[in-house]
Amino acid sequence: MLIILLGPPGAGKGTQAELLAAKYQLLHIATGDILRSAVNKGSPLGKKAREFMDKGQLVPGEIVVQAVFEKLEELSDIPGVLFDGFPRTLEQANYLERALKQRGTGIDRAIYIEVPEEELVTRLTGRRVCRECASSYHLKFNQPKVRNVCDRCGGELFQRDDDTLKTVTERLEVFKQQTAPVVDYYRELGLLTVVNGNTEISQVFNQISAALDQR
Ligand code: AP5
Ligand code: MG
Ligand code: ZN
Repeated sequence: MLIILLGPPGAGKGTQAELLAAKYQLLHIATGDILRSAVNKGSPLGKKAREFMDKGQLVPGEIVVQAVFEKLEELSDIPGVLFDGFPRTLEQANYLERALKQRGTGIDRAIYIEVPEEELVTRLTGRRVCRECASSYHLKFNQPKVRNVCDRCGGELFQRDDDTLKTVTERLEVFKQQTAPVVDYYRELGLLTVVNGNTEISQVFNQISAALDQR
C-alpha cells in the first residue's frame, strides 16, 4: 500500500500520518522531518536545507529526492509507505513515479486534506512539536497531557522556526504555486480522494481510513 498525504502547511498531514502508520503498519516518510533532523545534526545537507526552510521555500529537488530514495530502500520489508510532504512539485511526482515503476509498483491513493487558509494560520502559529519523535501538538486544539511534554515519548516540545506568521504566509504561497499542481496531477490520474480537514482530528482520520479501506 503506497499512500501520499497532500495538503497545505498545517492541514494535519503529520497528525494523520502518525495515526494511519499505526493502524495500517506503514512506514511514515516525512521529508520535512528528515530535513529538520539533518538541520539539527548540522550535516552539510542540513546546512543547505536550512537556508530554504527558514524562508519557507522549498529545498531544491535533488537533496530531497535522494533522502526519500534512501528510505525507500527499506521498502521490501514493510507492508507499505505513507508519504507526508512529498512529492511537493510536479518534478518530484515524476521522479517518484519512475522510481516506483522500476520497483514494479505505483501509488495506490493520494489523499488531499482540505482546510481553509485562516484556520491554517491559527493551527501553525499555535503548534508545538516533539524534539524526539516529531509528534505535533497544539496549544489549544491538541494539548499534551503534561504541558510541554510529548505524550508518546516524553520528549520536550518546541516551536518550529518556520511557524512564525511571516514564514507561514510564505509557505502557504509556495503551496499554492508549486504543490497545488501536484494535487491536480493525482486528480487527473483518478487517484485522488479529497477529505474535509476542517473538523475534529478523529473525524479526519475516519474519512481517510474509509478511503483506504475502500481501495
Ligand atoms: P513540512 O514539515 O512538510 O511542513 P508543511 O508541509 O508546511 O506541513 P506542516 O508539517 O507544517 O503541517 P502538517 O500538515 O503536517 O500539520 P500538522 O499535523 O503538524 O516541510 C517544512 C519545510 O521543509 C518546507 O517548507 C520546505 O522548506 C521543506 N520541505 C519538506 N518537504 C519538502 C519537499 N518534498 N521538497 C522540498 N522541500 C521540502 O498539524 C498542524 C497543527 O494543527 C498542529 O498543531 C496540530 O496539532 C493541529 N491539528 C492537526 N489536525 C487538526 C484538526 N483536525 N483540528 C485542529 N487542529 C489540528
Ligand atoms: Mg508535518
Ligand atoms: Zn515525542
